Amino acid sequence: MDAGADTAYAKGNQAPFSVRILTLFPEMFPGPLGLSLLGKALADEVWSLETVDIRAFASDKHRSVDDAPFGGGAGMVMKPDVIDAALGAVKPRPGRLLYLSPRGKLLNQALAKELAAEPALTLLCGRYEGVDQRVIDAWDMEEVSLGDFVLTGGEIAAMALVDAVVRLLPGVVGKTESLEEESFERGLLEYPLYTRPADWKGRVVPEVLLSGHHARVAQWRLVQSECITRHRRPDLWERYCAQKQEQEG
Ligand SMILES: C[S@@+](CC[C@H](N)C(=O)[O-])C[C@H]1O[C@@H](n2cnc3c(N)ncnc32)[C@H](O)[C@@H]1O
Repeated sequence: MDAGADTAYAKGNQAPFSVRILTLFPEMFPGPLGLSLLGKALADEVWSLETVDIRAFASDKHRSVDDAPFGGGAGMVMKPDVIDAALGAVKPRPGRLLYLSPRGKLLNQALAKELAAEPALTLLCGRYEGVDQRVIDAWDMEEVSLGDFVLTGGEIAAMALVDAVVRLLPGVVGKTESLEEESFERGLLEYPLYTRPADWKGRVVPEVLLSGHHARVAQWRLVQSECITRHRRPDLWERYCAQKQEQEG
């Protein structure tokens, strides 16, 4: 491997949870992942981040990483031999290998939790029209999508995935209750939040929140969560009702 092909951001790279990102743009990292709670956890070696510069594994004198698609059509395709060489340099390592791709399984909180239980993740960021299918198959990659839209490259999707996963690791987010109360935890979206001042431009905070009555506050929040979920996400609402019925019956 080229010197500089591989950049580790955590001090000792001994963190219990390690993330490896294969990209044509290693300079995009750690980017936002190096700030705030995730940045602190990175510095504290709760997790480690390593980028692998895919271009360092190109074998021709032009350092080509892409070529025209067989069968014609617009754009370029990332070459299988280059990706294979990059992966070969970082594997065998534990954990799952994911290719960020709009064709993939949608990232959700359940998947984020599943990934947070892994010792390590290897993420491949595509560019151009995407990656040659043969290397996806040969490495048995799992395709994961950020949503039903097309990004220019996989890096921003990888950052979003890493953010969602790393914040679930023990010690990253201060109070575990703040994770338990979040959207999706009970299959519902979060209730409305308020802070001081209690009266802002004539808009007052719901009285129950000032009552100090924990049971009433909890009940109000549940009703709000249910109401918001029913209106905004009928798909989640349906699942929540079915689960509730199952628990009750
Ligand atoms: C321009 S996109 C390729 C889009 C592809 N030709 C298609 O039609 O599905 C280039 C790269 O961005 C990344 N990407 C784009 N949209 C994404 C999404 N919704 N989720 C995850 N990664 C995405 C993938 O790594 C992809 O290989």
